[in-house]
Amino acid sequence: MDLDDVNRLVSADMQAVNRVIQEQLQSGVPTIPAMGAYLINAGGKRLRPILLLLASRMGGDRTARPIPLAAVIEFIHTATLLHDDVVDGSELRRSNATANQLWGNAAAILVGDFLYARSFEILVRDGDIRVLETLAEATSVIAQGEVAQLENADNADLGPEAYFSVIADKTAKLFEAAARIGAILNRMEMDREEALARYGCLLGIAFQLMDDALDYQAVAVKMGKNPGDDLADGKATLPFIYAMLKAEPDEREVLRQALGEESRRHLPRVLEIIARTGAIAYTVASAQERAEEARKCLSGFPESPEKTALEFLADFSVRRDH
Ligand code: IPE
Ligand code: IPE
Ligand code: MG
Ligand code: MG
Repeated sequence: MDLDDVNRLVSADMQAVNRVIQEQLQSGVPTIPAMGAYLINAGGKRLRPILLLLASRMGGDRTARPIPLAAVIEFIHTATLLHDDVVDGSELRRSNATANQLWGNAAAILVGDFLYARSFEILVRDGDIRVLETLAEATSVIAQGEVAQLENADNADLGPEAYFSVIADKTAKLFEAAARIGAILNRMEMDREEALARYGCLLGIAFQLMDDALDYQAVAVKMGKNPGDDLADGKATLPFIYAMLKAEPDEREVLRQALGEESRRHLPRVLEIIARTGAIAYTVASAQERAEEARKCLSGFPESPEKTALEFLADFSVRRDH
């Protein structure tokens, strides 16, 4: 199985999801559909709605209920990206100029707010209080993760625990919610719901670990965003944290100075230290551990193409190069 097979498995549903996305972006205020279309048409891997669809189909659901909910997951994801790019001062997203670059920070934040609000309108129409509860909690946890990360900025002595707490909140929580909703729609037993939720959480952590490894390696073209941003933003991610722990005192001083605005000047030396300490390999191995654990969460489910696809996504999340 490869990513094309996964996409084929959900392609009819994803087309319906894309239609809901288009409909729900409509507004008499032109900036909203304009920015919405700009971002959504730029692509993106659609991993979270695919995860929701696969999780719900794995429980046998063949109704149309997952469709608007999958659109909501992508809306919430897009809202977090709009806000995140303002906070991070990012210039490139999905290989295009960010919305904040084109429309300015104020418009990007307000359209992000609209996407959250529209999401909750759709959820109220769906009417399932457990789905609503799951996404209400997830959005509040994501926001807390982003604020915690802001509090940690420029702290070169940040420990792995604080880092893992941030990525569990800012990234893994939405993956977890997507998988859990699949279980809720099927009225699965609680142990199955928890197994799927844990799968989503571990997948999300693995995914962010890889994103943070790629930020020190990848070229902008493949990632569709600028590498090196984490260091420049003062974000101590696992490659940095691990390098700090393994570095010699003089190297540690370089890392300390490089975290934040002065990063570009120190980047070549930082990359050397990251390479010498094996920090990328360590980060990738941490991601692989989580992905392996994620796969294990699925062991109690009967074999199905959807289960195979979820297992594949766990592998893909740690093999991806963009
Ligand atoms: C980007 O998520 C934000 C992170 C959690 C790293 P994706 O890599 O899924 O972004 P798109 O939707 O494919 O652009
Ligand atoms: C991911 O954070 C954004 C959210 C989960 C809200 P990052 O800042 O690490 O992601 P990129 O690198 O901008 O996609
Ligand atoms: Mg960012
Ligand atoms: Mg990043």
